[in-house]
Amino acid sequence: MASNMLSTFLLLLPLIASTSQTIFVSADPTYDSFANCLAENGIPRDQISRILYSPTSSSFSSVLNAYVRNLRFNTTSTKKPSIIVTPLQLQGVQAAVLCTKQSNLQLKIRSGGHDYEGISYVSENNFVILDMFNIRNITVDISTKTAWVQTGATLGELYYRIWKQSNVYGFPAGVCPTVGVGGHISGGGYGPLLRKFGLTVDNVVDAQIIDVNGNVLDRKGMGEDLFWAIRGGGGASFGVVLSYKINLVPVPPIVTVFNVQRTQAQNATDILVQWQNVASKYDDNLFIRVLVQPVTINKSRGIRLTFIALYLGDSNSLLSVINSKLPKLGLKKSDCIETSWIRSMLFWMNFDIKTAPEALLSRTPDSVNFLKRKSDYVQTPIPKTALTSIFAKMVQLGKVGFVFNPYGGRMGQIAETETPFPHRAGIIYKIQYSVNWQDASPDLAQQYLAQAKELYSFMTPYVSSNPRQAFLNYRDLDIGSTTNGKDNYNEGRVYGLKYFKGNFDRLVRVKTAVDPGNFFKNEQSIPPLSH
Ligand SMILES: Cc1cc2nc3c(=O)[nH]c(=O)nc-3n(C[C@H](O)[C@H](O)[C@H](O)COP(=O)(O)OP(=O)(O)OC[C@H]3O[C@@H](n4cnc5c(N)ncnc54)[C@H](O)[C@@H]3O)c2cc1C
Ligand SMILES: *[C@@H]1O[C@H](CO)[C@@H](O)[C@H](O)[C@H]1NC(C)=O
Ligand SMILES: *[C@@H]1O[C@H](CO)[C@@H](O)[C@H](O)[C@H]1NC(C)=O
Ligand SMILES: *[C@@H]1O[C@H](CO)[C@@H](O)[C@H](O)[C@H]1NC(C)=O
Ligand SMILES: *[C@@H]1O[C@H](CO)[C@@H](O)[C@H](O)[C@H]1NC(C)=O
Repeated sequence: MASNMLSTFLLLLPLIASTSQTIFVSADPTYDSFANCLAENGIPRDQISRILYSPTSSSFSSVLNAYVRNLRFNTTSTKKPSIIVTPLQLQGVQAAVLCTKQSNLQLKIRSGGHDYEGISYVSENNFVILDMFNIRNITVDISTKTAWVQTGATLGELYYRIWKQSNVYGFPAGVCPTVGVGGHISGGGYGPLLRKFGLTVDNVVDAQIIDVNGNVLDRKGMGEDLFWAIRGGGGASFGVVLSYKINLVPVPPIVTVFNVQRTQAQNATDILVQWQNVASKYDDNLFIRVLVQPVTINKSRGIRLTFIALYLGDSNSLLSVINSKLPKLGLKKSDCIETSWIRSMLFWMNFDIKTAPEALLSRTPDSVNFLKRKSDYVQTPIPKTALTSIFAKMVQLGKVGFVFNPYGGRMGQIAETETPFPHRAGIIYKIQYSVNWQDASPDLAQQYLAQAKELYSFMTPYVSSNPRQAFLNYRDLDIGSTTNGKDNYNEGRVYGLKYFKGNFDRLVRVKTAVDPGNFFKNEQSIPPLSH
């Protein structure tokens, strides 16, 4: 006891001495001590004022709002961070971790800010945002077909950098250019190459992470358990992921896309019945997403389906697949557009297909909405009669739509335990529940959130159960959250089994080993076992 106190005392001396020399003395003691801590950790003083923001800084709001991607969390009543820190290099990220620990504030890590529940920049606790947007180098090496990508980069930047080097390589990630690599890859992100190449995380070969002690670890240094965890278990429970090394995947010089719409009067329901039976089984080169939306058609309310496809081949081969497997779609050659892979991504992202790929470099989305998402997994085709009643329910509710994404192909060949992402063999398709709105009225928000819940409840008989599976990257706090109190593990298990099935327990073991004190925590993080 006595010797412990003595060493504590001795350790404090140099700290007090250096603190007395600091230059950071403002009206905000939280800012000052954070700034002084960064200085003590080797960050140049002239840099600190450029990377550290307190609520009294003139650019605080613009830095905070720059990566808010859901207007539900852009209100005056949304709790704001005590500090935002935007490091310029690795050493700054290390210092930000150590100084947040010292400050006793909660750390929130933000890369692209696209979390659907805003948990990278919102908290009920007093907190720090570690904003990664300056950490975004991308190094593509075509000779080894790999790239290192830092987590503050966006998917658009990644696709652009790959395309600049070669038009016959791509990467199987998502179709929104402003999504951040940090949340997307660590959460098991996917895109229209999923049936051919699996998820982002199925194509990650190395990573760099900063752990709770500020150490920088690569795959070898972190070990296979932690490397496994940050490929689908969410990064934010384990450390700050700095970069991922990815395998590029081959894409043909010509691919084909289409986007066709069918209403109920145009046999939409029958087409969907057929789609459910084939979309996870036909040629891996074909991925057809379906949007299911309540709309007004010819002055009456009904459902419209939008079929959006990527085919890794030319339009003639695509037509022969469709004519034999999905003839009810009635696809015509004139519906098909042959293009390069990079332009197919622009098409899927709703750009004009002739847009120059430089558009992918913009970090500002065209519009930001209020939004809510939920997810489900379908293992048995939903019968036509049930689809008809689901459509009627959607029309009655009025606003919530679905996005169906087929699985199968590569997804079914990868074992459930290979990565934390467990939704593999036997999944026909994933459902995203989607509602966007633009009006700030809180009543309207309550109404839309309630509609999403009601539709989710209505879908219970048709989707996976025990557990009812959910996709981590479609973050949904309705399915459970943790208060980080003493019932942490049991609270975590509620959403943990839905997102990870049996992999939850391995994630808990990794968490307990690398961050037993639960420094890296959020509303849906992996809890450590308490001792
Ligand atoms: C418009 C839009 C389109 C989308 N399209 C797709 C799609 O096509 N496919 C798909 O799979 N998903 C899609 N998503 C979901 C998206 O993949 C997830 O929201 C993803 O987590 C976003 O990553 P981010 O870095 O932008 O988010 P953030 O909000 O910055 O982070 C999300 C989570 O990851 C953590 N995190 C972020 N960076 C790091 C890091 N460096 N280290 C550790 N933890 C970190 C955060 O703390 C938070 O918990 C879309 C989302 C939106 C809003
Ligand atoms: C978020 O709110 C701020 C303050 O009301 C406002 O200035 C800003 O435009 C909002 N952001 C968006 C994207 O609407
Ligand atoms: C990005 O790369 C440049 C050039 O190699 C380098 O100077 C810079 O430090 C790198 N930035 C980060 C955040 O790693
Ligand atoms: C709908 O299906 C019916 C019966 O199979 C068929 O006769 C009709 O042509 C189809 N309508 C459209 C628009 O494809
Ligand atoms: C709307 O009605 C017209 C005329 O009856 C019909 O030709 C058209 O197909 C309808 N549109 C849709 C989208 O169903």
